[in-house]
Amino acid sequence: MSAVANKSVMLESIRDEEFAVFQEMIYEQVGISMSEKKKSLVEGRLAKRLRHHGLSDYASYIKLIKSGNSAERQMVIDMLTTNETSFFREQRHFDFLASEVIPASGHGSPYRIWSAASSSGEEAYSMAMLFADKYRSDRWEIIGTDISQQILAKARKGLYPMRAAEKIPPDYLNRFCLKGVREQEGMFQIDKKLASKVTFNSLNLNGQWPSNMGMFDLILLRNVMIYFDQKTKQKLVEKILQQLRPGGYFMIGHSETLNGVSTAVKMVKPSIYLKPAAP
Ligand SMILES: C[S@@+](CC[C@H](N)C(=O)[O-])C[C@H]1O[C@@H](n2cnc3c(N)ncnc32)[C@H](O)[C@@H]1O
Repeated sequence: MSAVANKSVMLESIRDEEFAVFQEMIYEQVGISMSEKKKSLVEGRLAKRLRHHGLSDYASYIKLIKSGNSAERQMVIDMLTTNETSFFREQRHFDFLASEVIPASGHGSPYRIWSAASSSGEEAYSMAMLFADKYRSDRWEIIGTDISQQILAKARKGLYPMRAAEKIPPDYLNRFCLKGVREQEGMFQIDKKLASKVTFNSLNLNGQWPSNMGMFDLILLRNVMIYFDQKTKQKLVEKILQQLRPGGYFMIGHSETLNGVSTAVKMVKPSIYLKPAAP
């Protein structure tokens, strides 16, 4: 049997039946479908946890998780979710909001935005910069949610390496970000006033949702459905659209589609959908 070498512990390779345990667990708890191709990714990411516990094989690690260790279960979820994101990712969504949506809004109740699957917060803070700049009042708020606790902690911190600022317009960088000094050299911090408009909560899109989430004017569900199968996507989109006000917008990732998933919203541009106003 091949082994992953380590300075202190020699790790056994993950067996097919052990990989299947993680496959099932991630599908049941998160809704993510992992193909066989993800075997080495799973092995690579979980190896750190085996080492952390001084274990040399995946069977022992599975035993540990199954013994009711919920913190370790959450750790597995954190390790096996992909959190890639960036500021002003998919610029066309921001352009559409600036030119079509924001000028026509701001007359009624506060504008509420949900960054569902917010990852480390770049999406929510980019929206916040846009709304702070362009919205006619400060009656707007953003809720970011994600399943990964580690990534939510990062989002709440709002501290990013300077290289992450690449796509932030220079004017926004000046107005809404503070350059780190001393131990935060090479980093920037989201300005407190802007950050106070954004709240991050833990939420499993495929689990139970709190009953007091309220309705939203704009929901972003970007670059997360790619990890779900068709049935999971259909159920999720049906549920998420119940939280969208009639006349509100729904945005998905540019490489995603609602074809075969939902007909309840009308496409206004690729990856941008409108929930028809009530008749
Ligand atoms: C690739 S990131 C996308 C981030 C951002 N929306 C964007 O487009 O840049 C996907 C995020 O979805 C989260 N995620 C995956 N499954 C989830 C679930 N069932 N419930 C909530 N968040 C989930 C992951 O933790 C990850 O942070």
